[in-house]
Amino acid sequence: MDKYLETDEWKIIEEGFDPQRQRSSESIFSIGNGHMGQRANFEEHYSGDSLQGSYIGGIYYPDPTKVGWWKNGYPDYFAKVLNSVNWIGIDVYVNGEQLDLAECSVTDFTRTLDMKQGLLQRSFVAELQSGNKIAVEACRFVSMERTEVGVIEYKIKALNFSGTVKLAPYINGEVYNEDANYDEIFWDEGTQDSFDDGGVVTTKTKKLAFHVAAAMKNTVQKNGKSLDLEATASVSSMYVDQAYEISVEENDEVQLQKYAVVSSSLNHARKRLHSHTKQSVDDIAKVGFKQLKKEHTDRWLNIWKGSDVHIEGDDEAQQGIRFNIFQLYQTYTGEDERLNIGPKGFTGEKYGGCTYWDTEAYCLPFYLNTAPDKVARQLLWYRYRHLPKAIENAQKLGFTDGAALYPMVTMNGEECHNEWEITFEEVHRNGAIAYAIYNYIRHTGDESYLEEAGLEVLIAISRFWSQRFNFSEKRQKYVMLGVTGPNEYENNINNNWYTSYIACWCMRYTMEAIEKVRDESPEQFEEIRQKTSYDDAETEHWNDILDRVYLGEDEDLGIFLQQDNYLDKVQRTASELDKSERPINQHWSWDRILRSCFIKQGDVVQGLYFFEDHFDEDTIRRNFDFYEPRTVHESSLSPCIHAIVASKLGYSDKAYQLYLRTARLDLDDYNKEVHQGLHITSMAGTWMSIVEGFAGKRAKEGKLHFSPSLPDEWQAYSFKILHKGNRLNVRLEPEQVIITCEKGSGSTCYVYGEKYEISQDKEVIISAPVLSK
Ligand code: BGC
Repeated sequence: MDKYLETDEWKIIEEGFDPQRQRSSESIFSIGNGHMGQRANFEEHYSGDSLQGSYIGGIYYPDPTKVGWWKNGYPDYFAKVLNSVNWIGIDVYVNGEQLDLAECSVTDFTRTLDMKQGLLQRSFVAELQSGNKIAVEACRFVSMERTEVGVIEYKIKALNFSGTVKLAPYINGEVYNEDANYDEIFWDEGTQDSFDDGGVVTTKTKKLAFHVAAAMKNTVQKNGKSLDLEATASVSSMYVDQAYEISVEENDEVQLQKYAVVSSSLNHARKRLHSHTKQSVDDIAKVGFKQLKKEHTDRWLNIWKGSDVHIEGDDEAQQGIRFNIFQLYQTYTGEDERLNIGPKGFTGEKYGGCTYWDTEAYCLPFYLNTAPDKVARQLLWYRYRHLPKAIENAQKLGFTDGAALYPMVTMNGEECHNEWEITFEEVHRNGAIAYAIYNYIRHTGDESYLEEAGLEVLIAISRFWSQRFNFSEKRQKYVMLGVTGPNEYENNINNNWYTSYIACWCMRYTMEAIEKVRDESPEQFEEIRQKTSYDDAETEHWNDILDRVYLGEDEDLGIFLQQDNYLDKVQRTASELDKSERPINQHWSWDRILRSCFIKQGDVVQGLYFFEDHFDEDTIRRNFDFYEPRTVHESSLSPCIHAIVASKLGYSDKAYQLYLRTARLDLDDYNKEVHQGLHITSMAGTWMSIVEGFAGKRAKEGKLHFSPSLPDEWQAYSFKILHKGNRLNVRLEPEQVIITCEKGSGSTCYVYGEKYEISQDKEVIISAPVLSK
């Protein structure tokens, strides 16, 4: 744990400049708008250690696979969202000497992420080697309103000298990825040119030829008055700058506004990209900093109206949850059906910006409850669009007849991960994708999604499962061999309970969905039947599997067996591990981890979370009591699921303790890896721990249910839920639950099983002394 940030309800604040922490702060202070985003790199030149990162959603590179032992079926490449054109750069010279925070003495340094308004701010005093001192203030945002726009205001005050301040804002397309497999530069030069107070650089990616254009336009003032200055432009390969040389007296302040537009061939015809970008930057410069900022901050205020969680009595918890919500909305807004949520969002290179099962299992519930339904629909639609590729992917591995295996890691629907134990074996991701459809429908009640797209996906996934099970003559049961469950600390296991269970559920749910669509929309059903070549005879085999499937249980312990032979392992609990051995993935050999009983993340417990209604509480308790102590929670996705199940079981202290591990994971750098980027997908898990965990929110047949509890450490908390066009505010106090319908016509909710009608603007107060533990 490394706690160096100030606690504040709405802001992340770093006081004092520590170059050792620069990479970590660059991650934590990242900004984005769901379409593009960037690490909090400095505008001015910085020669210290830094990870430059500016990313555009959907612009990726198929980096050739690097593996030791090639295995047939591996994809040829790993897709990476690229570090793209640097549009934030501003070189600063004071009497000819370049400002570089690694080379001067820095005092009064404050970096602030204003989460309420979506602004990254920085101020400091720098004494250069010459003794000249300047005070700098910078404010930057990536517009939520205009998705291709970024804006910077940069102010410099001469504190103890007169002479010149030179500001040279630039666009630089010559950038690279640290994680390039073969040290390749992924970009080719396009065009570069300057125009009045601005310039445009176009570049294109190698191989896939995505074109990107970035344009800037600058305005400069001294002491608040516009300067009519002739800038000097320099243009070179992939680069353009405009230098402004301003004479200053002591105490003069120079201000620069840099307007930038970054567009790509994803959204514009290549031919028009250059002219569009140049025109747009001219237009936004006319709108001006103040108005652009207002539009942007208004958007944020609106996002908070639908998604805020307010915790009273615990400022650290408050800051933690807002940071998580803020970063999630910076990563994904649901406006573009081609985009998705990478585990690190736009904050680092790890995981390549690709899509994982994290989206369906963790992020979907967050967007489902805090954004209009169409946002969650986009996430489902993303997988629907990739269905043909998932069918192709399954074919490559030997599956037939329209069976689909979705990729574990993907950018465009193709698998791009190449470790056999994950690529070929971590097939449970198919289950989460099917579950997301069910989850969406039970929350929204919108069953039309089945006929529109969901049923095709379900049929293809069920076909996969029906082929992935095989009949064991010896056991006279269907078994599923050679898989990796969510617990990646064991591979090539047989009969992983979670995978087999979700596979069975999926076939059952698909059959129900088939009947529903057939009954309610026979014409659409006929279309789907023809499109998928579905034949009712297929379900005979599915039913046979359901009748004769092997799902391991240990009767003595009364638990589900994580997999065959799990109980043959030497049984220890995580509490028996010495601190110096944790995390085991950094201290033990992989072989030792694989042979141990330690579980990386919820596996059986993940299944109990998804399917809690299928089991009685004692069964859930016995399994939780057995597996949680063996779980080392070395995936950031683990504690939240356990926190929710612990809350359900009334293990309030355990739930809170697990919740703490997710809430400030990045802010306090629990895993000592925040320098690589933030854990965006697990941030959704933090939200789930509060809303589904402490507040016990569930959706059943389109209705909301709550069974809230209040952690001892909090005085009260409240959160928003968007549900069927209503915006509810649910407030939990020690002795009562207060639900208000802030927007919409009203809603029916169940609290501790009792039904309540919540009408607009009326508070419903429910006395609930059980709230206090
Ligand atoms: C977890 C996976 C997850 C991936 C990306 C891994 O450490 O084990 O479940 O999909 O990270 O977040």
